[in-house]
Formats: sequence, C-alpha cells, structure tokens
Amino acid sequence: MSMDSRTSHGSPTSLGADYFRNVYAAKDDPFMLDSKWYERRKYALTMASLPKPHYRRALEPGCSIGVLTEQLVTRCDHVVSTDVVDSALDSARARVGETAAVEFALWSLSDHWSALPTPEETFDLIVVSEVGYYLDAADLASAMTRAVDHLEAGGTLVAAHWRHDVDDYPISGDRVHEIIAATSGLALLSRYLDEDVRIEVFVASDGPAVSVASTDGLDVR
Ligand SMILES: C[S@@+](CC[C@H](N)C(=O)[O-])C[C@H]1O[C@@H](n2cnc3c(N)ncnc32)[C@H](O)[C@@H]1O
Repeated sequence: MSMDSRTSHGSPTSLGADYFRNVYAAKDDPFMLDSKWYERRKYALTMASLPKPHYRRALEPGCSIGVLTEQLVTRCDHVVSTDVVDSALDSARARVGETAAVEFALWSLSDHWSALPTPEETFDLIVVSEVGYYLDAADLASAMTRAVDHLEAGGTLVAAHWRHDVDDYPISGDRVHEIIAATSGLALLSRYLDEDVRIEVFVASDGPAVSVASTDGLDVR
C-alpha cells in the first residue's frame, strides 16, 4: 500500500474511486465474479442465508458487474445497486438489462445517503458483499450506523467477505464483520464461516433476532 493511503498515525484510510477505476481499466471483470465456481457457490450461500423469501427494496453497494444483482432481482421487487466505477455500472446494466426493478447509481458506501436515488425511501434488505473492507474502520462504522437508519425494523443486513489478507485493503474481512456486529440496532441471526469467507445475516432489532423457523410459525420449543 502506498504511504499516501495512510493517515499520519500510520492507519490505512479508505480506498478511493481512483483505485477501482484503475482496477477496471485493466480488466472487465477484475474480481473474476463471473468465472469462478468459488464466487458462484458464495452467491448461492449468501442468497440461501436470506431469512425472508421476498424483499420489497434492496440496496447493494459495490455491485461491480452485476452478477449478484441478477440474483437479487429474483427475490426483490426493487434493487438499488451502486458502484464507484462507471464502467462497472455499465457492465452491470448490460448484464441485468433494462428493467424498472433495478436502479444503478454511482454512489459510494461512504457517501451521504441523501445522494441515493429516492433517498427518503427505506430498505428492507441491505447487501454488504465484498465491499466493507475498502473503507477504513471509522468510515465503515459511520456507514453502518447510516445503514441502520435506513433499514426498516425487522429488515435484513447480509454481509459476506473474503477472510484472507489483501495488502491494499484498509481492514480485514473479519474486522468488517466485527464492526457490523458492534453497530447499535443490529442483531446477529446467522453465520456461515470457512477458511475463505464469512457470511453473516443481521436483523434490524434492538433485541435478539428471532429464528427463521420461529418467524415461519414452526414449533421451536
Ligand atoms: C469485489 S467487488 C464486489 C462485487 C459484489 N458485491 C460481490 O459480492 O461479488 C467490489 C466492488 O465494490 C466497488 N467499490 C469499492 N469501494 C466502494 C465503495 N466505497 N462504495 C461502493 N462500491 C465500492 C468496486 O468498484 C467493486 O466493483
């Protein structure tokens, strides 16, 4: 990591849009989201972990070329998918096609939420998938506090992150999940963990999360 991406105290700071513009200038699908079985399996795990069959309105920051977006559309009435790179958003638009169900926007997770399309509307699903570790710890904590402000009571926040160290990233995947877990107003519902990836589902709640079986009326005594 270059020194100018560190504070004077030596802590890494959030990666800016220029970093990702360079990444996409070199390759159309730099994260191999459309070619790796690893990614297909991870998307299947993420989608399977969602506790509700259907959502009204989802936010997907860091949508890249729209591989996960395509799957979210099948479970959501409306999806707002954002990225910090125009060319990635163009690829996502081309993949998903013209549909009123998805809105694409140039927007960073560290931006103010008033800059989102229809900022007055809340979400019942927020997908933080492989994007949290581009923010430094303070920026991510603020972004997650804003996320809770825009997540409906009982809504879902799902987070999925690579667990191996990447030199350029300000924080690790596990640190992302610790920061989300420490955000007031979120309760952990479920966790998938292996050597490579951590996938956690949080519910917007001031108390403990209610299990899926219990919510679905099954006898959980
Ligand atoms: C590894 S891809 C993740 C794609 C998808 N979310 C997934 O889980 O496969 C990360 C994407 O996040 C974008 N990105 C980086 N920083 C961001 C930020 N602060 N806000 C929104 N998107 C960001 C990058 O341009 C890139 O397209």
